[in-house]
Amino acid sequence: MLRAPLSLLLALALVGCVAGQYLENQEYDVDENGLPMDSGNTELDEEDPTLVDKREDEDKLEEAFIMSTSKPLGEISGIAIDKKGRLVVFHRADRVWDENTFDESDRLAAGLAPIANSTIAIVNATTGQVLEEHGEGLFYLPHGLSIDSEGNIWVTDVGSHQVHKLGADYKPVLTLGEKMVPGTDGAHFCKPTDVAVAKNGIFFVADGYCNSRVIKYDRNGNVLAVFEAPDDNLGSSPFLIPHSLALIADLNLLCVADRENERVQCYSSGLAEGHRSIPAGIPITSAENIGRVYAIREKNHYLVGVTGADGDGTLEPQLFTMDMETGKANTFLKGIENAHALAISDEGKVYVGQMQPNQIVVVDLA
Ligand SMILES: *[C@@H]1O[C@H](CO)[C@@H](O)[C@H](O)[C@H]1NC(C)=O
Ligand SMILES: *[C@@H]1O[C@H](CO)[C@@H](O)[C@H](O)[C@H]1NC(C)=O
Repeated sequence: MLRAPLSLLLALALVGCVAGQYLENQEYDVDENGLPMDSGNTELDEEDPTLVDKREDEDKLEEAFIMSTSKPLGEISGIAIDKKGRLVVFHRADRVWDENTFDESDRLAAGLAPIANSTIAIVNATTGQVLEEHGEGLFYLPHGLSIDSEGNIWVTDVGSHQVHKLGADYKPVLTLGEKMVPGTDGAHFCKPTDVAVAKNGIFFVADGYCNSRVIKYDRNGNVLAVFEAPDDNLGSSPFLIPHSLALIADLNLLCVADRENERVQCYSSGLAEGHRSIPAGIPITSAENIGRVYAIREKNHYLVGVTGADGDGTLEPQLFTMDMETGKANTFLKGIENAHALAISDEGKVYVGQMQPNQIVVVDLA
C-alpha cells in the first residue's frame, strides 16, 4: 500500500453540515415532461439514509487518503477512470498557469511550446503506481479530461484553445478549435474547460474561461446547439467560467459547474432518449451560492462536486453530493484545498485531483 492516511482530513471533516437549503428548484414547469426535481423544496432530511449520511460514521472517515504516486506529477487538472479501472490523470508536468501565461487578448504567451514531458499518467488506482505515461509534446496547458463509453479520452487544452478526442494510442483522432487562436464563433473556443459525451456520441463542450457557453455537437463534431445561462428563466447571469460538465443522460440533464457564479446549473440535454424530446438548453434546476465549483461528476444519479473557497472567504472548500432524484444535497467533506478535478469509481471511491499540492485524494463514499 502506498497510500498514507490523511490526518488533515480526519481532523477537518464533517459531514452533515448540511447544505440542503442551497439546492433551489426553479419555477420552470417541467412536470408534464417527467423530469426530475420538478416540485417542492429540497430540504435535507437528516434521517434519510442516503449515501452521504453513512459518512456520519466517523470510522469511515479513515478511508480518506492522499495517494502517493510512484512518480511526481504536475498540477493535476483532469482525472478519470478507464475501463480497466486505472486512473487517467491529465497534468501540467513542469508548466504552471501564472500571470504571464496569457496576454491580454487571451493568447498563450509567445514562446511557450507544447509541454515536452508527459502530461497523461495512467495510474494504478489502488497502489498509486504510474503504469504508463503519454501526452508528450502535444498540450500547452492541460485542463479537463473525461472518458466516453467507448473508451475514448477527451481533453481540453486551455493553452491552445482546443478540444481533442484521443484514440487508443493517446493521440488525437478528432480536434476542434483553431490552434492557439481564441474566438467566439463555431470554429473557435476560448480556453475550453471540459467535455461530456453521451453514449450515442453526442458531446458537449464547456467554453470556457473567456466565453460563456456550452456547445452541443454530433459525434462528428458538427455544432447542434449552443446554450448560455439565460438572463431570465433562472433569474441569473451568464456563465462565469463554466468549468466542468456532468451529463446524466437518462435524466436528460446536463449539469454545468459555473465556477465564478458559485453554482451548479442543470439544463435539458436534449438527447431525446426514451420518450423525452425536450430541446437542449432549457434550465431545469440549480444549486446556488455553494462556493466556487471546480468539478462535478455523476454516478448512479448522485452528483459529486468539489468547490474551492468562495470569493469572500465565507465558505470552506468542500466535497458535496446531490441526489439528483430527490434534490437532496449534502456536504460530505471539508478542507480539500485547490481541488480541480474528480472521478468516481464503480465502487464509490472518489478520486480528487489537486493543484499545489499536486496530488490525488481518495475518499470512500460507499
Ligand atoms: C520533465 O522532464 C525532465 C526531463 O526528463 C525531468 O527531469 C523532470 O523531472 C520532468 N518534470 C516533470 C514535472 O515531470
Ligand atoms: C493494481 O495493483 C494491484 C495490487 O498490486 C493489482 O492487484 C492490480 O492488478 C493492479 N491493477 C492494474 C490495473 O495494474
